[in-house]
Amino acid sequence: MSIIEVSHLTKDYGHDRGVFDINMTVSKGECFGFLGPNGAGKTTTIRHLMGFSKPQVGTTSILGQNSWQNAAYLQSHIGYLPGEIALPNGMSGSQFLKMMKEMRGIENDDYCQMLLDKFELDPNIDTKQMSLGVKRKLAIVTAFMHDPDIFILDEPTSGLDPIMQQVFIDYIVSEKKRGKTIFLSSHIFHEIDATCDRIAIIKDGRIVSEFQSDELKNTTMKTYRVTFQDKDSYQQFITLPYQFTSQNEAKNRARISICDEQLDQLIQDIAKLNVEDFHEIPFTLEQYFMKFYKEERVFEGVK
Ligand SMILES: Nc1ncnc2c1ncn2[C@@H]1O[C@H](COP(=O)(O)OP(=O)(O)O)[C@@H](O)[C@H]1O
Ligand SMILES: [Mg+2]
Repeated sequence: MSIIEVSHLTKDYGHDRGVFDINMTVSKGECFGFLGPNGAGKTTTIRHLMGFSKPQVGTTSILGQNSWQNAAYLQSHIGYLPGEIALPNGMSGSQFLKMMKEMRGIENDDYCQMLLDKFELDPNIDTKQMSLGVKRKLAIVTAFMHDPDIFILDEPTSGLDPIMQQVFIDYIVSEKKRGKTIFLSSHIFHEIDATCDRIAIIKDGRIVSEFQSDELKNTTMKTYRVTFQDKDSYQQFITLPYQFTSQNEAKNRARISICDEQLDQLIQDIAKLNVEDFHEIPFTLEQYFMKFYKEERVFEGVK
């Protein structure tokens, strides 16, 4: 059963900015990754899902309810972690949490306390004095204190240190095991790789690829790097009929992409040459992603 549905969603801000004909569905218990760099359209899509913006074309719905028409109902069923956190001034984190608990009618404090412990948050300081990381932790506790079944997360770990990023990833994985449905936008490959069952890549407001994360891991094309001891071996190698993905003459080194059936032939071919080093370059989500974003250096936080 689909919990989240985005159908032909379009919001055109002009100058080719916005999102265009976005289609996605997320099933119950699935973790769906929405991967794209800054400005790709992740937040715009999520704001429509949450019912904060009205689509120009298309619809978004959660639990079968149109997001725009039923925003208040949906927000009480969703754990939403916004990309940018705005907290009210003039109150402490504890006061803010108490206010949110009352608004949501939470009586049992156990789950909230578990979150405070897990994320090592001491909320007893004024929101004005909080660092970005502490604000993010407060937003996390606030978003999930009611133990919602659906998580909508917009770049959830920005501002967290690497240890807390891992705590967050572990939390997502354990909540997924409890049957939660999760929609996670991110530009961090590791975060998506570690949590998601299915991934869509968004570029310039359009989905350019969608796949099961297993498909990527089981891909039959593999890349190998071979380094030769001498120029002669290298020269002979690069004249062979393979698909070379890079050649480095100065280092007598080349990379080739082959399917599994060609591996035996490759080993026979290089056995006749003077090989210094031979190894497989694992295919990663990052490499796949970069195919779509080549020559664009709009990324933050990526090597
Ligand atoms: N309210 C708005 N008015 C005009 N342009 C906007 C507005 N919101 C976002 N945009 C533009 O739409 C594009 C997608 O933005 P956004 O959804 O925030 O991307 P992301 O969250 O992936 O970084 C960007 O080019 C951004 O400048
Ligand atoms: Mg954003």
